[in-house]
Amino acid sequence: MNRDQYIQLCHELWMHNKAYYVECHPKISDFEYDQLMQELLDCESTHPDWIESFSPSQRVGESLTDGFKSVSHDVPMLSLPNTYSDEEIQSFIKRVEKNAPNQKITYSLELKMDGTAISIVYEKGVLTRAVTRGNGLMGDDVTQNIRTITKLPLKLSSENPPDFLEVRGEVFLALSVFKKLNEQRDEDGLPVWANPRNAAAGSLKLLNPKEAAKRDLQIVLYAISQDSSNKIQSQYESHDYLKELGLPTLKYTAWGENEKDIWSFRDKIFALRSQLPFEIDGVVIKVDSINLQKELGSTAKIPRWAVAYKFAPEQALTQIKDIKVQVGRTGVLTPVAILEPIRVSGSVISRVTLHNQDEIDRKDIRLGDSVIIEKGGDVIPKVVQVDLKNRPKHSVPWKIPAYCPSCETKIIQLDGEVAYRCPNINCGERNYRHITFFVSKVAMDIDHMGIKVIEQLIQKKLVTSPSDIYRLTKEQILELEGFKSKSAEKLLANIEASKQVSLTRFIIALDIRYVGASTADELSNVEDIFALSKMSSDDLIQMEGIGEKVAQAIVEYFQDAHHMEEIKALLELGVNPKKSSVLKTHHFYGKTFVLTGSLMSYTRDQAQMLIKQRGGKITSSVSKKTDYVLVGESPGSKYDKAKKLGITILNEEEFANLI
Ligand code: IVH
Repeated sequence: MNRDQYIQLCHELWMHNKAYYVECHPKISDFEYDQLMQELLDCESTHPDWIESFSPSQRVGESLTDGFKSVSHDVPMLSLPNTYSDEEIQSFIKRVEKNAPNQKITYSLELKMDGTAISIVYEKGVLTRAVTRGNGLMGDDVTQNIRTITKLPLKLSSENPPDFLEVRGEVFLALSVFKKLNEQRDEDGLPVWANPRNAAAGSLKLLNPKEAAKRDLQIVLYAISQDSSNKIQSQYESHDYLKELGLPTLKYTAWGENEKDIWSFRDKIFALRSQLPFEIDGVVIKVDSINLQKELGSTAKIPRWAVAYKFAPEQALTQIKDIKVQVGRTGVLTPVAILEPIRVSGSVISRVTLHNQDEIDRKDIRLGDSVIIEKGGDVIPKVVQVDLKNRPKHSVPWKIPAYCPSCETKIIQLDGEVAYRCPNINCGERNYRHITFFVSKVAMDIDHMGIKVIEQLIQKKLVTSPSDIYRLTKEQILELEGFKSKSAEKLLANIEASKQVSLTRFIIALDIRYVGASTADELSNVEDIFALSKMSSDDLIQMEGIGEKVAQAIVEYFQDAHHMEEIKALLELGVNPKKSSVLKTHHFYGKTFVLTGSLMSYTRDQAQMLIKQRGGKITSSVSKKTDYVLVGESPGSKYDKAKKLGITILNEEEFANLI
């Protein structure tokens, strides 16, 4: 490597740091990143005179995000040295032994959770602060978002909790949740997350805790960094201590006395990896004795008493036989590569999503290309890169078709969107997916109306829009394969039963862009669907959690005459969306609330739900019309405004009493 290449490598690593930490959308895998970093470190050790102060080896990734308060860590949040080979682990053990002669060294063996690191403070047993790792010295205060994690106690369960406790751990997403989240993002034309870790990190950085709550984040705590009671002297024992305090902890921890124990733990976890419901990217080996940890100390960035053994994601080479384009229920086109089937990480992969045209252009993926496929614990395999050496001679860049593969309508791209869409609401494939969604559990919940039934109904032109479902007769259902008199009656009964639906689920079923379950829940505070259809963008923005983009999408949806006709038809056919019943007699009925500050005993979502169930309304800003302002810790300017306007202020205790 010459000096110019060295400088180039520094810039490249910084670009990847930014993509990873700030944008939460890495462009390369961890493995590739670690390899580049190793290249840089090797080069710097051979040419120490080249080292630039801006080299990524000299600083840790900046990662503070606008919109969050930056908080400094009392104890720096270090990262672990990554190793990929047995030799590196052996030299770690040797180094520890050399620095601690004549001591019996034992190890705490742990999963390396592939999430995002968090520091959480409990004061007198109450959760008071949660901060991301950030650059290790300062992080973002994400307390509000962390409080939405249901399994994390806001109060420790121990009767005698320490006065001050800082614990460290990992926030992550279950693979199943990650998969659903990405499917939804793909449908909505948003960029998909590269892996669950980025999805978790991105979710913690949501400015609206209500949005974060929807992400169903999980957490485990694996270390104590400050404890006023000073109880614990062994890392391995700290897992039990954390559990006693009521905190979620790591699974499969083990205690190791020698190198052999480390390998058998590594092998056991490696074999288990594909069955775990969450992602891990290796194992962590930590010196067990806390005193010895202190003796060994750390450098500015990494401890000398712990190391991560990372599992390189499994990769395989295969060929793209075809690129098919799928039409989603909102019309979004998704290119999917059809592969020469190949086995990776225990499963046979024959297709892989290429997400969108941007992704294809970036990786320059072409028909007939040989590609490297990667599948870690990720449920979603991905194309890592094209093997250019084997590219067919006359290949050309791949372009999304100009016309819809299902209905041949001209494809459009909306302003500011990566996705291309088929704008035809009568498009066959789009319609099929739309109807499948309409009858699904989250929407109208029509039992026994599976994919096969819908396919036939569409093919026989018995159903072309959702309202047609309510026009079906027994005779028509009997035309479908597999139906006899009894089963046809059963399906009709299910269709009938689905007419009694909550307004929330009815709104979900309409499939308005960007409107998921919790937005639909918020929208269902209106009188009825017609009231909603008449609301302006300004009215909608007043509602909690509804921003301009969503408001605009709602207004546009109802401006479409076809949508209004369909809604009218559904109601005329007997669909009867009802508001969920509220306690009309409750003191909160008809009252308007504003919430500010962090609440101790409830998440924001819970408090809002309690108010709504009692017929209260929640708005985002304080005005003369506000009846109550519920105030938590460190309230914002809304509190001052409420005091000025003489509005009744409730603290948590008063609120709880009124409930
Ligand atoms: S201990 C000084 N334990 O790995 C020790 N970290 O590269 C640092 N991680 O930022 C943390 N599982 O996000 C520790 N069992 C585990 C872990 C773990 C995952 C993550 C954590 C940290 C990163 C270090």
